[in-house]
Amino acid sequence: MNTVVVGTQWGDEGKGKIIDSLAKKVDAVVRFQGGNNTGHTVIVNGEKFIFHLIPSGILYSEKKCIVGNGVVIDPGVLLKEIEELQERGVKLDNFYLSGNAHVIMPYHKKLEEIEEERRGKMRIGTTRKGVGPAYADKIARRGIRVSDLLKKEVLLNKLRMNLKFWKEFLNSEFSCEKIWKQYLDYGKRLRKYIIDTSLLIHKLIQEKKNILFEGAQGTLLDIDYGTYPYVTSSNSVAGGVCAGAGIGPTCIDKVIGVTKAYVTRVGEGPFPTEVRGEIENILRERGKEYGSTTHRSRRCGWFDGVILRYAARVNGLDELVLTKLDVLDSFERIKICVAYKYGKRIIRDFPFQSFMWEKVEPVYEEMEGWRKDTSSLRNFKDLPLRAREYLKKIEEIGGIPIRLLSIGPQRGELLSID
Ligand code: GDP
Ligand code: IMO
Ligand code: MG
Repeated sequence: MNTVVVGTQWGDEGKGKIIDSLAKKVDAVVRFQGGNNTGHTVIVNGEKFIFHLIPSGILYSEKKCIVGNGVVIDPGVLLKEIEELQERGVKLDNFYLSGNAHVIMPYHKKLEEIEEERRGKMRIGTTRKGVGPAYADKIARRGIRVSDLLKKEVLLNKLRMNLKFWKEFLNSEFSCEKIWKQYLDYGKRLRKYIIDTSLLIHKLIQEKKNILFEGAQGTLLDIDYGTYPYVTSSNSVAGGVCAGAGIGPTCIDKVIGVTKAYVTRVGEGPFPTEVRGEIENILRERGKEYGSTTHRSRRCGWFDGVILRYAARVNGLDELVLTKLDVLDSFERIKICVAYKYGKRIIRDFPFQSFMWEKVEPVYEEMEGWRKDTSSLRNFKDLPLRAREYLKKIEEIGGIPIRLLSIGPQRGELLSID
């Protein structure tokens, strides 16, 4: 059984926690897109792990954790993540890195900084990890791949070409020789992990192993389906798996969407159900909505059914996992957006024209809150009636069932729904 897990909103839906939980029953966990703009949190017995490049299944030593060709790698960040995990007793014997993944170079971070500054008011609010420029170089066919770090001459030639290409933008702070030596050293230290991951995944599929594909970011941050240009630079929808891990669509058995019981967004861009003031503060404080990667405050808003329906469609979702329901425990009334209003028109499908995103008004249905603590529950049958009604409404809007409910940040704080 091969399962894809994706975020249905603007990222940070709680994917890390869910991947860790689902990983218990699989043989391998595979990242297929994104880079260290990702921050996936897993908390086990009070110990917190935030994964940026390493798949969130790594806490189970016997599972294969694979970073596919669709991911962009900052090798310094990856090595630091590996070392820090090893210091904490996590084994990386089953970690594999694609030789075809592209590399984030020091000038990518600088280029991103320059671009964000030049954009001024139109800045994206990126994580400034160099992810966008690395993907841009990949598409422009001048990118450097992980396997190039193992070949002295190849690396030098590609590096020279790239530095020449970007010369007008970069001042002399980038020494070709210095970067070359540093990245050759990274290559040496990563060599033991580098393989043809597509081939490994293919073998696992042939052996009928269970694989989990770990999506990063979220549907509305996807380069094609998201709120462009306020998006990330990769395909974070389920379709990204095929190109980013090297498998065919016929190999995917199930697609799960992780959806938060409300919505958050980091960085700039449209957000129809965004709220300000007291409600925003409650959501942010109870939900601890501060970035796992950049520590920025996350913007907060009510649940948006229009984007859920959209995510269900463009990802082909089979089922949902609803996270952070406990964050809504104290509300007297809870709003849920069922459609948008554009002028006098009611819109049920997420508009494809970007000029509408800033102008639509959410149409809310209001529900009474359950005002009971759900975080201590251990059985779905004990869930307050009004909370069940909230779940039912979400299922109705999305047209897909919720199979798992998360009511706390710790591993195990989950209720399965049959
Ligand atoms: P990801 O990027 O989708 O993996 O999400 P993040 O890890 O960036 O952000 C989710 C945050 O919510 C993390 O701090 C998690 O520990 C936390 N979290 C996950 N699930 C729950 C939940 O059900 N309840 C609460 N209160 N927190 C949760
Ligand atoms: P996870 O996997 C939330 C956002 C950034 C910015 C936009 C572009 O933890 O859910 P980028 O650095 O990717 O070029 O930034 O995308 N962004 C995320 N927001 N969660 C993430 O990942 C994100 N990765 C990128 O804030 O708005
Ligand atoms: Mg995150």
